[in-house]
Amino acid sequence: MSVAVTAVSGQLGRHVVQALERADAAQPIVGLARRPERATGLDIDVRPGDYADAQQLTASLLGVTTLLLVSGNEEPERRISQHRNVLDAARAAGVRKVVYTSVQGAEVGTAFSPVVQSNRQTEADVRNSGMEWVIGRNGIYIEPDIESIDDYVAAGEVANCAGEAKCGYTTRAELAEAYARMLTESSRDERTYRLHGRPLTQAELVGFINGAFETDLVYRSMSVEEYREDRIAALGEFFGTVIAGIYEGIRDGVHDTASDFEEASGRPHQSWEDFFATLARDRVKRRGD
Ligand SMILES: NC(=O)c1ccc[n+]([C@@H]2O[C@H](COP(=O)([O-])OP(=O)(O)OC[C@H]3O[C@@H](n4cnc5c(N)ncnc54)[C@H](OP(=O)(O)O)[C@@H]3O)[C@@H](O)[C@H]2O)c1
Repeated sequence: MSVAVTAVSGQLGRHVVQALERADAAQPIVGLARRPERATGLDIDVRPGDYADAQQLTASLLGVTTLLLVSGNEEPERRISQHRNVLDAARAAGVRKVVYTSVQGAEVGTAFSPVVQSNRQTEADVRNSGMEWVIGRNGIYIEPDIESIDDYVAAGEVANCAGEAKCGYTTRAELAEAYARMLTESSRDERTYRLHGRPLTQAELVGFINGAFETDLVYRSMSVEEYREDRIAALGEFFGTVIAGIYEGIRDGVHDTASDFEEASGRPHQSWEDFFATLARDRVKRRGD
């Protein structure tokens, strides 16, 4: 009875392994990684797991009962076929249950929508896979905003096209707690959960950042077109357009939804007060070291 997690060289996969270890130290955990040598510091059995290689995946999944498929990051069509490789391999290897990390976002009308649609296709493939299944639709990670603090301070502002709308952010650590329960408890089977914390406006987010980092940032709303040009200049055509598409979805209210996090994980999502207070304490501690 072992549980496998794909993409353990990545941040979400690694967090889920750690959450599974906390939940049950005796549970055998298998990690899959496209480049196993990058999955460092994990005290588990790490096997090769490139989503493009169905044969390799089947061999690596032998003996696995339950699988977490962490969504890949290739362009949409390739992503769908890579995810199908993982599902086919899981079935061939005798996996009984698959859990999939999907996304929230505008299903039509933005530059992010093709990515959302590719996730919806994999959701359908998971439901039709013949295995038991659970799906999580992840909210937007809050960590990239924290990692952008130097850029925000240099600009004196956070500027984007989300406007006044609220966004259901989350953290990888919180998602990992929910996925650990979804993997190990059958009461969640055949459910699709929206996983995020209390939705925040950009002004609220900036207020939290100012409190934690002792900054004086302001929020400035831009038009979608202005923001797209800004992001393309910073990140290039493809990523710039996709990021602007995500914020266009936020502006349209797509990310202001009720969360199923508590049902999925068995406890409420960490509050943003608590999350930012921890960040502030860690900063003070690092300054004192
Ligand atoms: N909710 C959000 O705000 C948000 C934001 C960004 C991304 N995402 C999605 O969430 C996923 C997990 O996030 P994360 O934080 O863990 O991202 P991450 O730290 O960038 O890790 C991505 C992982 O995907 C693996 N991967 C990519 N292509 C693969 C393939 N063909 N075969 C096997 N593994 C492959 C990478 O392997 P390598 O180490 O070999 O590259 C890496 O382990 C992302 O892949 C993306 O789909 C969500």
